[in-house]
Amino acid sequence: MDQNLISLVNKLQRACTALGDQGDETALPSLWDSLPAIAVVGGQSSGKSSVLESIVGKDFLPRGSGIVTRRPLVLQLQKIDEGREYAEFLHLPRKKFTDFAAVRKEISDETDRETGRSKQISTVPIHLSIYSPNVVNLTLIDLPGLTKVAVEGQSDNIVMDIENMVRSFIEKPNCIILAISPANQDLATSDAIKISREVDPKGERTFGVLTKIDLMDKGTDAVEILEGKSFRLQFPWIGVVNRSQADINKSVDMIAARRREREYFANTPEYKHLARKMGSEHLGRVLSKHLETVIKSRIPGIQSLISKSIAELESELIRLGKPIATDAGGKLYMVMEISRIFDQIYKEHLDGIRPGGDK
Ligand code: GDP
Ligand code: NA
Ligand code: MG
Repeated sequence: MDQNLISLVNKLQRACTALGDQGDETALPSLWDSLPAIAVVGGQSSGKSSVLESIVGKDFLPRGSGIVTRRPLVLQLQKIDEGREYAEFLHLPRKKFTDFAAVRKEISDETDRETGRSKQISTVPIHLSIYSPNVVNLTLIDLPGLTKVAVEGQSDNIVMDIENMVRSFIEKPNCIILAISPANQDLATSDAIKISREVDPKGERTFGVLTKIDLMDKGTDAVEILEGKSFRLQFPWIGVVNRSQADINKSVDMIAARRREREYFANTPEYKHLARKMGSEHLGRVLSKHLETVIKSRIPGIQSLISKSIAELESELIRLGKPIATDAGGKLYMVMEISRIFDQIYKEHLDGIRPGGDK
């Protein structure tokens, strides 16, 4: 994730934590709870888990043909200041995973524990946290694929059950939707687009991602879609080339996969002119930018809450006629400190635009 975003979120969090520490007098809505989550939706095997992995920049999710993701995975990325990256499951507290292949195995095993080694799905999420110096605090959600018919071993209601489960995640207004559609299927039948439109009709929080561009029939291409001509979305479509099943079997790593993806777009005559706006890395940048915009839009609200609590604390001090060393004085000091952090945020991230400020 982009450094600017990391630093913005860290500062904001420092300010919000400090503000929260004052007790419940300041009814500051937890910035934490309102931070956006990113969910992947789409048909089975459209490439959802692959796309999510490339956003995180890590190999840790079970992927493959057929119904592999059978429980929602709520992945919390948590920034740590230093030290080695590790992962932890909510169902296995105190066990630190530093081997991400073991994380993938535990996701599979924990899925089986809930559903049996069948094709059943469960709406009970698996909660996983990844602690790393190189991430922003963010929630990502991997979801089972939407299907059209129940297969052998699945109950008849499975189609609706999955749809309702997916909807329950993506209908939340703070959920950014990655609508994943494979380029080798007709977009008009895309489950991802259908359900995203339903919960986000204006497309204000939906990003269309076209996967499997490398698997299109000879003589066909996705140019019309990617240029926004045949199927327009609010945000431009982003085409990606994930690792194929053969790549997964050969354990092709992410760095090699990204290089190949870059080369694919740069060297395919049809896509050359679009290369800059395609690929997993570009998707990562676009999401970073979008998150930054969403987070920045919250700042004025937080700022005004801070100003309000400064004013309240000041008048309390005046009323009490107490010196700054008292409890209220301590609080005032803390709020001033938070305000200072916000000034810094405005200077560094908002290019001098300071609503309600005195500059
Ligand atoms: P999910 O079921 O939507 O989570 O999809 P997965 O990420 O598990 O991928 C399903 C299968 O499609 C795997 O075998 C992937 O290797 C393959 N796959 C996904 N995206 C692409 C792509 O862009 N190109 C190719 N060639 N294969 C892909
Ligand atoms: Na799959
Ligand atoms: Mg999956």
